[in-house]
Amino acid sequence: MERVDKILNHDLFLENLEKNRQAEADRRFCRHNMAHFLDVARIARIMNQEEELTIDNEIIYAAALLHDIGKHLQYAAGIPHEKASARIAPVILKECGFDDKETGVIVEAILNHRNKEVAKDRDLNGLLYRADKASRACFACEAEAECNWSKEKKNLSLKY
Ligand SMILES: [Fe+2]
Ligand SMILES: [Fe+2]
Repeated sequence: MERVDKILNHDLFLENLEKNRQAEADRRFCRHNMAHFLDVARIARIMNQEEELTIDNEIIYAAALLHDIGKHLQYAAGIPHEKASARIAPVILKECGFDDKETGVIVEAILNHRNKEVAKDRDLNGLLYRADKASRACFACEAEAECNWSKEKKNLSLKY
């Protein structure tokens, strides 16, 4: 996954990852860090196989690594983080060797990762949505009672 390795080492990626870290240093709820990005990537990879979607692994990992990369801008400037992340992602993707078509597919999935309407879609949009939601360990979270996720959305039993 040569192009994914390039994302991991890209200056703009690392700069935004660090801004997320600083913005969430005292956060009790879910963080938007490398651990989360990798949880989403690996769960999406499993779901991709289970559901026989045949989406390319590099596309899955690129989407997972970038879907929350602009979260700090939601805290700092009130920009919904799917929009902030979709603005940052194309520059990184281009410089890491993804073409316009691949970038379009990834950015669309980033923009839709909080959109319930794509939850069941059998494409990258649906896959990223499902993997993102499935990644949170609500059953083991100390802040679960105060979290604003609905009971239906919370993972209260272990699936992935
Ligand atoms: Fe998100
Ligand atoms: Fe996420």
